[in-house]
Amino acid sequence: MSEDKKITISIIKADIGSLAGHHITHPDTLAAASRVLAEGKKKGILIDFYVTHAGDDLELIMTHRKGVDSPDIHGLAWNAFQEAAKVARELGLYAAGQDLLSEAFSGNVRGMGPGVAEMEIEERPSEPIIVFMADKTEPGAFNLPLFRVFADPFNTAGLVIDPKMHDGFKFEIYDVYEGKTVILSCPEEMYDLLALIGTPGRYVIKRIYRKKDDLLAAVVSTERLNLIAGRYVGKDDPVAIVRCQHGLPAVGEVLEAFAFPHLVAGWMRGSHFGPLMPVSMKDAKCTRFDGPPRIVALGFQVKNGRLIGPADLFDDPAFEYTRMKAMEVADYIRRHGPFMPHRLGPEEMEYTTLPQVLEKLKGRFKKLEEATKVIIRKSEMLTGATE
Ligand code: F6R
Ligand code: MG
Ligand code: MG
Repeated sequence: MSEDKKITISIIKADIGSLAGHHITHPDTLAAASRVLAEGKKKGILIDFYVTHAGDDLELIMTHRKGVDSPDIHGLAWNAFQEAAKVARELGLYAAGQDLLSEAFSGNVRGMGPGVAEMEIEERPSEPIIVFMADKTEPGAFNLPLFRVFADPFNTAGLVIDPKMHDGFKFEIYDVYEGKTVILSCPEEMYDLLALIGTPGRYVIKRIYRKKDDLLAAVVSTERLNLIAGRYVGKDDPVAIVRCQHGLPAVGEVLEAFAFPHLVAGWMRGSHFGPLMPVSMKDAKCTRFDGPPRIVALGFQVKNGRLIGPADLFDDPAFEYTRMKAMEVADYIRRHGPFMPHRLGPEEMEYTTLPQVLEKLKGRFKKLEEATKVIIRKSEMLTGATE
């Protein structure tokens, strides 16, 4: 890779507090973060940046030449979040500082609360990318659509038609419970891949490479806040970067996978399945039952590291039907109230506040034999058999 063409795109995000509960970031927090990044740009740490939000998550989209996991870039993002959190505290925003799990910066924001998706690439002559940002869901929410984009010919015509894609793609999967990683190649290992990523709470697509030349095509933030903190501190509201066109899935092929509002974990209290609704930036905020979970897609052209754009890609009546379908599904599944499968299963509930409720009931449980004895004794008393 020639040095001058190598650039890194980093998206680092955190919920540092929001307006009217967990609804939306406040413009003053975005402004505070922007000031820090503007300073970083002036000092030459960043080439370019774009600060935005998805619901209550503050999103820092940055380009630079420092590679992934750079302490300079992570430090800058950490400072931006700290400054934004300061404003959030001043304004009394809700859950101010929520995702900043540590006081001191340790050189890398991974494991400290924020979510991170970064890719170092050799910029192509024209480099279209899509930045996806979701609210009220988890990293595994990308499993289904990204599988369809890079492995399903019924979604992506290019897999069949374009010789550059015809060999397929390799998927790097993280086991977020065990801290392990595996690479599976499609189409040959498609069924193995599906055997894993069909459990999106545990096996999460991290990166996708074009098989022909190992070109990095997509990266997802895989931080699972609750696993890091060991308790419920909000959902992990993931982000992803997908490169498009010219031997990669077209922008329209990437977006096509989001035309089906599949069920994802998250929504109210991070404890419910609900449909993932693709929306424009103006609707990137959750209301009904703190949801339903949303995703926005911003398209950029990257030129010498500069971020040209964005284009608000789900701002299109072509996704109206998907949104209506999502609301129909939301309505249906909501009627299950506290019952599974609307509410998540027990393994996932472990990282919510439910264990505290169950703890209270612990002493009330009797061994079944004893309980049976009590019932027999009671029924004997009622029938007078013991007298
Ligand atoms: C989900 C989320 C919200 C909150 C809910 C309760 O990711 O952030 O649904 O879980 O509003 O919030 P607290 O416990 O802060 O009142
Ligand atoms: Mg929040
Ligand atoms: Mg959020």
